[in-house]
Parts: sequence; C-alpha cells; structure tokens
Amino acid sequence: MSHALIIGGSGMLKEAAVWLASQYDDVTVIGRSKKKMDFLIDQCRNINPLYLDYHDTNDLKLAIEEQIREIGDIDLVVAWVHSTAPDALSTIMNGVSKQKNNWHLVHILGSRSNLETIKKNISVPENCTYSQVQLGFVRENDQTRWLTNTEISSGVIKAISQKEAKYIVGMTEP
Ligand SMILES: NC(=O)c1ccc[n+]([C@@H]2O[C@H](COP(=O)([O-])OP(=O)(O)OC[C@H]3O[C@@H](n4cnc5c(N)ncnc54)[C@H](OP(=O)(O)O)[C@@H]3O)[C@@H](O)[C@H]2O)c1
Repeated sequence: MSHALIIGGSGMLKEAAVWLASQYDDVTVIGRSKKKMDFLIDQCRNINPLYLDYHDTNDLKLAIEEQIREIGDIDLVVAWVHSTAPDALSTIMNGVSKQKNNWHLVHILGSRSNLETIKKNISVPENCTYSQVQLGFVRENDQTRWLTNTEISSGVIKAISQKEAKYIVGMTEP
C-alpha cells in the first residue's frame, strides 16, 4: 500500500493533495482547520486528516509514528512548513526515517529562501531522498505577480513527477 504525507495540503497545495490522492492508496494531510480539510475529504475517499499544530513538536512526533503504525510506511512527504516552526521538518524527518522503507521528501520553499544554505543545514536520513521546490513569481505584460494556487500545485505536481532534486515554479530572478 502506498502512503503520502502532505503538510499544508489543505491550503494553497490542495490541488496537489487531490492529485496525490489519485496516485497513492492513502494520503495523510496535516492541518489545524477541519473546515479547510473538509474540501479534501469531500473530494477524495483516501484522505486521512491529522488535525494538529506543527509547532507542537511532541504532538507532531507522536502523530507521525501513529500514522505509520496504522496506515503503513510513508513513501512521499510534501512539506510546506512556515519558518515560525523551525523544528517541525526535522521532527517529521526523524519520525518517518524510523520506518524500514526508503522515502522521498519534497521540501516546498518560498521565493526568498536560499536553497543551498537550507540543504546544507538539513541532515538527510539514509533512507530519504531530499528534493526542493521553490515558489517564485510570474512575469506578465512587463509586470510581475505571485503564483496562483493552481500554478503552485501544478508546479509541485511536475516536480514530484519529474523527480527533480531542485525545481523552481515560475521564476526567482527578474
Ligand atoms: N511565491 C511565493 O514565494 C509564495 C510562497 C508562499 C506563499 N505564497 C502565497 O501566499 C499565500 C499564503 O501562504 P500560506 O502559507 O498561508 O498558504 P496556505 O497553504 O494557504 O496555508 C498554509 C497551510 O498550512 C497549514 N498550516 C499552517 N500553519 C500550520 C500549523 N501551525 N500547523 C499545521 N498546519 C498548518 C494550513 O492549514 P490550517 O490553517 O488548517 O492549519 C494550510 O493548509 C498562498 O496562497 C500563496 O499564493 C507565495
């Protein structure tokens, strides 16, 4: 049975979460709001909501371990985590890497992130393949604008499908 975990999948990445639900037997989604999660639950029969605040490291650790015990090893993690929770990603990585199987982490980063520095500072477990997706902007009629949620999700889906180590959605340089 295949299992994907997406953090932030009930927000701007919800179309990516729906796509994951078409590709994996089970998709676990971390978020706090039941209302936001209901969109995914209504669309897909294989969404497992994990209602928690990822600032609570202990809650996050226990929930990941329980989810692996109940549903099975995780093949893919897609992580959009705000910088206000600096311990969340390592907690997720430590929890998932305790499993036997290999897994892939797709780290979603904002346009101001320094990908090289982030990669250097992350300790990637042996059974994990790490890749980064950076969200940029779009140039249109000589002006720039932020990516729409649909563009963000489409880019993330492409990055996952193409298994690129580094993928930029839109552009980061003018
Ligand atoms: N181009 C760029 O660089 C770039 C980058 C980022 C964002 N943006 C734009 O900015 C907008 C807003 O960004 P956003 O991050 O607020 O997007 P969002 O994806 O709409 O919201 C964040 C997601 O993470 C979850 N989340 C947030 N805090 C959490 C916590 N403490 N614990 C558990 N889950 C949590 C939210 O669910 P809950 O609220 O239910 O917890 C939601 O699913 C986006 O729509 C996008 O257009 C642009």
